[in-house]
Amino acid sequence: MAKRGALITFEGMDGSGKTTQLRRLAARLRAEGRTVLETAEPGGTAIGRKIRQILLDSKNQELSATAELLLYFASRAQDVDESILPALDRGEIILADRFTDSTLAYQGCGRGLGAQTVVLLDRIACRGLRPDLTLLLDMSVETGLARARARNSIESSAETRMDEQSLAFHRKVYEAYGALAEREPQRIRRINAGAPIGEIEHEIWKQVQAYFEKCHV
Ligand code: TYD
Repeated sequence: MAKRGALITFEGMDGSGKTTQLRRLAARLRAEGRTVLETAEPGGTAIGRKIRQILLDSKNQELSATAELLLYFASRAQDVDESILPALDRGEIILADRFTDSTLAYQGCGRGLGAQTVVLLDRIACRGLRPDLTLLLDMSVETGLARARARNSIESSAETRMDEQSLAFHRKVYEAYGALAEREPQRIRRINAGAPIGEIEHEIWKQVQAYFEKCHV
C-alpha cells in the first residue's frame, strides 16, 4: 500500500499564536526524524505569495467580498497542486497555517457569503483533500486582535487589511470557529491559546501523538 502522510492544519483568530506553535511542532516532528512541509495561507507558493499581497494590502479597500473569497481559494488551489498533494504522496507531514476552515469562518460567516458557497469552491480548489487533524487555537477576540494589531504596528506591516475589519466581523469569525469545532470534534481539537506558550506546545504535541497512534501515521 502506498504510504500517505498527513495534513495537519492550524486555525484560529488573528494573533492567536498559530505560527509560533506550528514552528514548534515542526521542530519536534523533525527531531523525531519525520519529513515536514510547512505552508501558510494565503501564500505557501511563489504565486500564492503574490495573491497574499493583494489580499492583505490595506490599500485594497475596494476588493469585493466575492473577489476576496476567490483569491483565497486561488492561493489554496495553487498550494494544493504544487506543494501539498505531492508532499502527501511522498508520505510527508504537512503543517498548514490556515486552510478552508479559515474561509468558512472569515468569508462564509464573517463576510456572510455562506458555508455552501465555500464548500462548493473547496471541492474545486482542493479536489477532495481535507485536513486529517485541525488544531484550533482558541483565544478571545479582544486579546487576539490586540496582539495582532500591536504586532502590525511594531513591524509596520502592510498586511493589515483583514486585521482592520471591525470587532463585529471578528466576533462572527470566532463564533463560526466554535460552531465548526462542535460539528467536527474528532478532527478539530480546541486548544486554549491563553495558556503559557510551553503548555500550549505540550497540549498540541499530545493531540498529534494521539492522532498518529490512532491512524498509524
Ligand atoms: P495570517 O497570515 O494567518 O494572519 P495572522 O497571523 O494575523 O492570523 O492570515 C491572514 C489573514 O487572512 C487573516 O486575517 C485571516 C485571513 N484569511 C481569510 O480571511 N480567509 C482565508 O481563507 C484565509 C486562509 C485567511
